[in-house]
Amino acid sequence: MKAYAVSGQGEQPAHIDIDPPEPEPGEVRVRVVAASVNGFDLAVAAGYMGGFFEHRYPVVLGREFAGVVDAVADDVSGIEVGDRVLGVVSKPFLREGAFAEYTTAYADGGLIVAPDVLSDAEAASLAHTGSAALAILSAIDEPEGKTMLIVGATGGVGTLLIQLAAAAGATVIATGRTTLGRELVIELGATHAVDYSDLTTAIREIAPDGVDVAVHLSGDASTFSSLVKNGGLFISPILYSPEMFGDAERVTFVPIAGYPSAEALSTLASLAGSGDLRVIIDRERAFDDIGQAFGEFGHETLGNIVIRIG
Ligand SMILES: NC(=O)c1ccc[n+]([C@@H]2O[C@H](COP(=O)([O-])OP(=O)(O)OC[C@H]3O[C@@H](n4cnc5c(N)ncnc54)[C@H](OP(=O)(O)O)[C@@H]3O)[C@@H](O)[C@H]2O)c1
Repeated sequence: MKAYAVSGQGEQPAHIDIDPPEPEPGEVRVRVVAASVNGFDLAVAAGYMGGFFEHRYPVVLGREFAGVVDAVADDVSGIEVGDRVLGVVSKPFLREGAFAEYTTAYADGGLIVAPDVLSDAEAASLAHTGSAALAILSAIDEPEGKTMLIVGATGGVGTLLIQLAAAAGATVIATGRTTLGRELVIELGATHAVDYSDLTTAIREIAPDGVDVAVHLSGDASTFSSLVKNGGLFISPILYSPEMFGDAERVTFVPIAGYPSAEALSTLASLAGSGDLRVIIDRERAFDDIGQAFGEFGHETLGNIVIRIG
């Protein structure tokens, strides 16, 4: 099968031809139809994940996917060959990935039947980003009535988090560099949209005493942690330890590892299936153009970049 993979330490990702993975106990094999690009994929491609995950080369890149179940392990029930699913490859080591014609994922907590109303691109952009958004929201004790600044709000995680936080009653202040981005975040439920080029001035006008919570989805944390009021929360899925955060004595620092769970996937599928959670797709790219998509990630994209695989 065709896969986009890193073949050895220090090597650049490339399309390679390898055997499809066999589902191991507890796993399901999926014929991937679409998969979306995430910061994690760029980090693995750049070699940054070497200290955190065992790499079993060739390491196929890609986390989130949508596809059709093609095989199930003997011990798996509840998911059948032919089911249209959405999911995330989330194993304790790196080897299988979503940027491939076939991938494997855990039946319990790795995938779920996709709601019919979701397009393949939408279904492929929910499990990883949505698990992170849910984990961020659950780190906030009683979000209702709290002011919540989301920096980097126009991306895959942010566009979901805005909606979840607004529905939970938070007053969301969301960043967007472009006019289109600021219009989108308001449409999704943010009360205020601000350009992050002068965040301090913008936030001082909206919340002179500071915000209750800041969520760090992009940019340099040290440039806006001072905007959180004393005793507030600074939540980051980017920084993974308090030593990386300079303001931990004044505000509570919460690192996020948005591991998927069966419960999170069920919540996400149910909200997206009922139309209460919109998944934003910026563009789709052919599998052959995945290198270009990696270059585009994080720069003025609204929502997700999806790779069409099958
Ligand atoms: N720990 C976990 O489990 C986990 C899970 C998922 C994601 N993540 C991480 O969470 C982060 C967000 O993910 P994502 O998929 O939403 O990323 P994304 O799609 O790249 O979105 C980030 C957004 O930030 C904006 N941005 C770029 N530079 C900025 C700056 N200097 N200041 C403020 N905003 C800026 C960009 O929009 P505009 O410039 O156009 O406004 C971009 O769309 C990534 O670093 C990702 O790796 C972690």
